[in-house]
Amino acid sequence: MKKLFGLLLFVLPFVSVAAVHGVELEKAPINLKDKASLQRGALLFSNYCMACHSVKYMRYNRIARDLGWTDDEIVKKMAYGQAKPVDDVMTRMLPGVDMEVLGTHVPDLSLMARLKGPDYIYTFLKGFEYDEKTKTWDNKVLHGTVMPNILEGVQRYSTKEQFSQDVADITNFLAYVGEPIKVKRESLGWKVMLFLFIFFIITYLLKKEYWRDIKH
Ligand code: HEC
Repeated sequence: MKKLFGLLLFVLPFVSVAAVHGVELEKAPINLKDKASLQRGALLFSNYCMACHSVKYMRYNRIARDLGWTDDEIVKKMAYGQAKPVDDVMTRMLPGVDMEVLGTHVPDLSLMARLKGPDYIYTFLKGFEYDEKTKTWDNKVLHGTVMPNILEGVQRYSTKEQFSQDVADITNFLAYVGEPIKVKRESLGWKVMLFLFIFFIITYLLKKEYWRDIKH
């Protein structure tokens, strides 16, 4: 038993890698500064993913603040008025239903972009393939996945470009959720650099002033 456990510990980390093995991940064309894309992604996420998934480390009002919505707007848009701005973004699925219907737990997606990377999510969402032989859907990066091809309708009724854009927007949103401070951190970085630069000039001029009458 102990041996088996040890073996599992050894093998498990490779399982997810094995699933990806051989499939080249498509680069996700995302941009965390593109608020319009993040807003579209949030709406798509609410419409197509929150029936099963949560992003429970986020609160509605935090997303609202970062994406440029008011508290009222976000609750209306993402939760159909059924949540408070301070609530965590939970799934609409009742507890236990996932086990009953899908036979597995639906993972929370708060940190999925950190765990597997935006490129993985992008390729995964575009990676559903219909197998004519078995008459079932499979996914090329996660073979045998329990998740249904949720975006099938979206894909069927829109152009290739539009579908790629939708998937990119959802991926962008999940990348933002994985590290909400990133946009702020980067803009703060620039401000610090600018401050240091101006400070450098002032220091330099001051040095010149001090040494002006000194022969050296
Ligand atoms: C019907 C319920 C359902 C819906 C709706 C749904 N998912 Fe999933 N999702 C699942 C389940 C179940 C899993 C676990 C899959 C597995 O382990 O095979 C999963 C897994 C995932 C994963 C992780 C894959 C991995 O490698 O572990 C991502 C990313 C994901 N879903 C994204 C989404 C996004 C984005 C949407 C909306 C466009 C969405 N899902 C809609 C049920 C759902």
